[in-house]
Amino acid sequence: MAEFVLTNATIATMAGGTPAYGLVEHGALAVEDDKIAWVGPAGELPAQFRQLEAEDMEERLITPALIDCHTHIVAGGNRAREFEMRLEGASYEEIARAGGGIISTVSATREASEERLLASALNRVDHLLAEGVSTIEIKSGYGLDVDTELRMLKTARLVAAERNVRVRASFLGAHAVPPEYKGQPDAYIDEVCIPALEAANEQGLVDAVDGFCEGIAFTPAQIERVFEKASALGLPVKLHAEQLSNLGGAELAARFNALSADHLEYLDETGVAAMKAAGCVAVMLPGAFYTLRETQKPPIDLFRKHGVGMAVATDCNPGSSPVTSLLLSMNMACTLFRMTPEEALAGATREAARALGLTNSGTIEPGKRSELAVWNVAHPAELSYRIGYNPLAKRIVGDLS
Ligand code: NIG
Ligand code: FE
Repeated sequence: MAEFVLTNATIATMAGGTPAYGLVEHGALAVEDDKIAWVGPAGELPAQFRQLEAEDMEERLITPALIDCHTHIVAGGNRAREFEMRLEGASYEEIARAGGGIISTVSATREASEERLLASALNRVDHLLAEGVSTIEIKSGYGLDVDTELRMLKTARLVAAERNVRVRASFLGAHAVPPEYKGQPDAYIDEVCIPALEAANEQGLVDAVDGFCEGIAFTPAQIERVFEKASALGLPVKLHAEQLSNLGGAELAARFNALSADHLEYLDETGVAAMKAAGCVAVMLPGAFYTLRETQKPPIDLFRKHGVGMAVATDCNPGSSPVTSLLLSMNMACTLFRMTPEEALAGATREAARALGLTNSGTIEPGKRSELAVWNVAHPAELSYRIGYNPLAKRIVGDLS
């Protein structure tokens, strides 16, 4: 079991309260059994930890390891041609209604072997790990038949076998209506989505259940049926909601005590209040907002007013957010959504942990797991400030399996 001290560091504990960032200057922390045993000013390190091996951090910044709480990182193919089409004037919704969009990635994913899906996912995962990420949420939802949904979820588990990373897998069978069920979304939910969820759960492949509540996807009533099955199976839920319009998805999610509702550009104050009452995290996905050149921003001021926690994630996917940098997502959350750098870092650590139901990760506090990122910067605002620059010195995360 690892026992060591890191000393002479600036430590952003992200534990909340004051000072900002939970900042400890000239700090030290002690790790025992892969857990934080102590954190505070280096001069106050208790005697019992002074004989442990100590590493001088030379005033580098230590933060909780980053957590990417919303990705579709397992996917076949890419959608560069749709990127061109959108630049020529087509909208995301028009492309989706014409059989492109999510459905074009469904075709590519159905054709891809497990090996190919894994290799392409690992390539993207490695970019995240190089930025100090410890935990990645991975969704299904590009299979939309039982076999391919299961193959995607198995691939998500294989990512965690191939790399030292914690993976949380979300079943997203209610992502789009596949061509063979065109015009029959209810039949798709009954005949494919729910049986696929049951099979995946039986094989231990599901940590949470997600859906896409939108005009181009599923109605609240259809999502509700999926959530009822999730609840019956004892699985937590989360939802893509209010991305392109307001259908009341976040309120539905709140009724099911969802871990998070994600996107939320079109959310109103009633929905924000419902999320607060349910303790539901608002996951901000500025990469999708940027890629789709959206103009309606999520209601950041209302989240602040009601005290709804905001997470930030990449939404890494081949269509709306081909982004493999959580640091860039934090920068975009600040520049595009006017989140503060402190909110952005909390969003990629503490609040991202909450959005995944992880109670032992996301902050540097005694008793929590020691999952740390060490950065070649002096102040945590620098993590959101730079663009296209990776200042990671190292990840210190223990065994995440
Ligand atoms: O989070 N909004 C729905 N799902 C994804 C997009 C998936 C795709 O376009 O392939 C998202 O943006
Ligand atoms: Fe998404």
